[in-house]
Amino acid sequence: MAPSTTDDYRHFAVTKGHGVKGLSDLHLGALPEQYIQPVEERLDMTKVLKEESIPVIDMSNLEDPKVAEQIAAAAEKWGFFQIVNHGVPIEVLENVQEATRRFFALPVEEKIKFTQEQSPTNSVRLTTSFLPKIDKVLEWKDYLSILVSDKKSSEFWPSACKKEVMEYVEKSEFVMKWLLKALMQGLNVDMDSKESLLMGSTRINLNYYPVCPNPELAIGVGRHSDVSSLTFLLQDNVGGLHIRKMETDTWIYVPPITGAIVINIGDALQILSNGKYKSAEHCVAANGSHNRISVPIFANPSPDDIIGPLPEVLKNGEKPIYKHVLYSDYVKHFYRKSHDGKDTLDFAKM
Ligand code: OGA
Ligand code: NI
Repeated sequence: MAPSTTDDYRHFAVTKGHGVKGLSDLHLGALPEQYIQPVEERLDMTKVLKEESIPVIDMSNLEDPKVAEQIAAAAEKWGFFQIVNHGVPIEVLENVQEATRRFFALPVEEKIKFTQEQSPTNSVRLTTSFLPKIDKVLEWKDYLSILVSDKKSSEFWPSACKKEVMEYVEKSEFVMKWLLKALMQGLNVDMDSKESLLMGSTRINLNYYPVCPNPELAIGVGRHSDVSSLTFLLQDNVGGLHIRKMETDTWIYVPPITGAIVINIGDALQILSNGKYKSAEHCVAANGSHNRISVPIFANPSPDDIIGPLPEVLKNGEKPIYKHVLYSDYVKHFYRKSHDGKDTLDFAKM
């Protein structure tokens, strides 16, 4: 039954598992109160710079040493860039987008089988907002998260997207590894010894941002940085992703480019590189006329890895700005609070 009061909207979206997709499908005249962000958490469009953009790096010739150099330079300056001609076939990208739409189009009875309460495995979870039990104001996003490195769980992945997710992850792995290798090269670190630390655990999210009434009052995803080493994100052609330029407190729009992948540095790599590579703060605007999807793959350390500035980075006498922390403690800290920009990093600061 359709909800009638604000409390009912939260219950409808969160507890009953309809998500914001369910709310969007009601064609409400106004945004429910639970989704109205305080002014400081909305995306202030007057602070979005049109003139600037993050680098777009052509990966067609991996023999060219300039490619690795551009990647390391972009990670230092921006923490964000896009890659084109990366070798992941366009059909694979289209198929996983199609599969994402198919999953979210399922009737709610099918989708709730994957909520935390009902999912047969912790490695597959359908959520709305970021932390619906903690977020005071909810985010306008539903997402299915799958710990893909837990291969045993694959029998429980939704059949609506399983094959396509597997293929996308498999085809992207080479590129992710190559990028991390280029980034390690920029630190004079040998990738072979660090591969399991940088990508010991991988997760994919299928993000769904349905059409939102009063999008200017809401947020798709609040300001945050990722806890990953590296994030590899496919977005559709709707747009909405913005990154924060810290020095000037302005936002830069990340324009959709067909076939491109958005790459960003996560907190783990900022810590490992002792701050040389930046995990940029980002957010996603809600949209009043189009549904949007995105599909990030997160390369993460394993939960039982200790992360801290790499000894190779400190060899030249550089002072460590981060401590060594257990990665699972870092991630737990991230999931204890609503999105709050880059504050998670304080957990690891000296
Ligand atoms: C995320 C995220 C951005 C997007 O899932 O962590 O920042 O464009 N997504 O959906
Ligand atoms: Ni993110």
